[in-house]
Amino acid sequence: MARSHVHGRSDALAFFGATGDLAYKQVFPALAALVAKHRLDVPLIGVAKSGWDRDRLIERARDSLTHHGGIEAEAAERLYGLLRYVDGDYNDPGTFKALRAELGDARAPLHYLAIPPALFGTVIKALHESGCADGARVVVEKPFGHDLASAQELNTTLHRVFPESSIFRIDHYLGKEAVLGLLYFRFANSFLEPIWNRAYVDSVQITMAEDFGVAGRGAFYDQTGAIRDVVQNHMLQVLSLVAMEPPAGYGHEDIRDEKAKVLRAMPPLRPDDVIRGQFAGYTDEPGVAEDSAVETFVALRAHVDTWRWAGVPFFIRAGKRLPVTATEVLTRLRRPPKAIAGRGEDAGEANYVRFRLSPDIAISLGARIKAAGETMTGTDIELALHEQPGPAGLAPYERLLGGAMDGDASLFAREDEVEAAWAVVDAVLGDVTPLHGYQPVTWGPEQAANLTRHHAGWHDPPSGQAGK
Ligand code: BG6
Repeated sequence: MARSHVHGRSDALAFFGATGDLAYKQVFPALAALVAKHRLDVPLIGVAKSGWDRDRLIERARDSLTHHGGIEAEAAERLYGLLRYVDGDYNDPGTFKALRAELGDARAPLHYLAIPPALFGTVIKALHESGCADGARVVVEKPFGHDLASAQELNTTLHRVFPESSIFRIDHYLGKEAVLGLLYFRFANSFLEPIWNRAYVDSVQITMAEDFGVAGRGAFYDQTGAIRDVVQNHMLQVLSLVAMEPPAGYGHEDIRDEKAKVLRAMPPLRPDDVIRGQFAGYTDEPGVAEDSAVETFVALRAHVDTWRWAGVPFFIRAGKRLPVTATEVLTRLRRPPKAIAGRGEDAGEANYVRFRLSPDIAISLGARIKAAGETMTGTDIELALHEQPGPAGLAPYERLLGGAMDGDASLFAREDEVEAAWAVVDAVLGDVTPLHGYQPVTWGPEQAANLTRHHAGWHDPPSGQAGK
């Protein structure tokens, strides 16, 4: 194993997959933003096998910044000045020798693996053998495994070289302003805590709807499906923030400890808990098998078997080609025991707390008031506590890469969290549950409605900004 614990800031960044799509869309803009804020002034070494040279990489960075977020010309020049490039095959020890040479005096580099997971093992071994892993940290992109066994194997591979404190597993949802806003709101407001439990909460729903399809990623998606693509990681991470206990301290690990406890307390999903769907036309997408049984939609019912949450269903729904693109968390409270005006009063909506995580950000409370007029009947209103049109704050990759450079792992998924999340979904991966068809621009197969039947049905996030 490499030198055990790295303290302080990393003194170089090597990013593998430097000529790829993720680097183009996310990594260059994030590095540029960090450079602009004077948070990054160390060598930035792109690594790939594309036959490129340093000038070509700089050209690519320039193009990336033009299309995905510009910065001041002076800061852009500083970024280009920091860029280096190593070209070579990941199976060739010469590539890593060249990388070690580029690292120069760096003693605590950060290696960021934005590469297909099939290459992780090869690269990690080569980093070790070339001395590049000494004193280093490593950032790994999703997907982290494709089931529990492969995630455990990957953890073993990583741990042969890096201690857990030097491993940063990316889940970009943890870098989102709105997701951190949810965590903050939960524990910054004392009115919430007394009701945030099984005594008052009827159910929790998390919906991640996307109106687009597989967007040119058919070959990847057809090996993946909605449960692996977004439930095991993004949705269960959000769920763990909704359900976690207050952290006991302010250290990097305190929040992760509480999230891991939630995930460990979730019983494995059973086939009855899961409805899978595939949109009509999916199998015509390039890269998708004609007879594909991969789900582009999933609705499921999960539980968190803790003192706080026993008996409260957590519903998760995620899908492609739905009517809108929006992600929301809705915590529905129990209804009052009786209507004030006796029989005949339409109960309307139960009270709820709604977190809209994207594309815009909102936090609101659903309540019921008397409708003006003779009768004691009510109407539903929503109290907007916070509305933020469009994305706010730092872009997730800026926040995450900045954190990793500082050695702050709090916004990364820890080994036990990742494995516990896989353990939740492991038994329902693949085709163990039926696959239902659905039409594009609908909310998925009608069977999904059965899951929430006794809990006031699904809440469909609206498309408009913040509004309900
Ligand atoms: C990715 C998934 O992890 O998250 C995609 O692979 C999905 O399928 C994306 O579209 C959604 O991320 P965001 O930040 O746009 O909600």
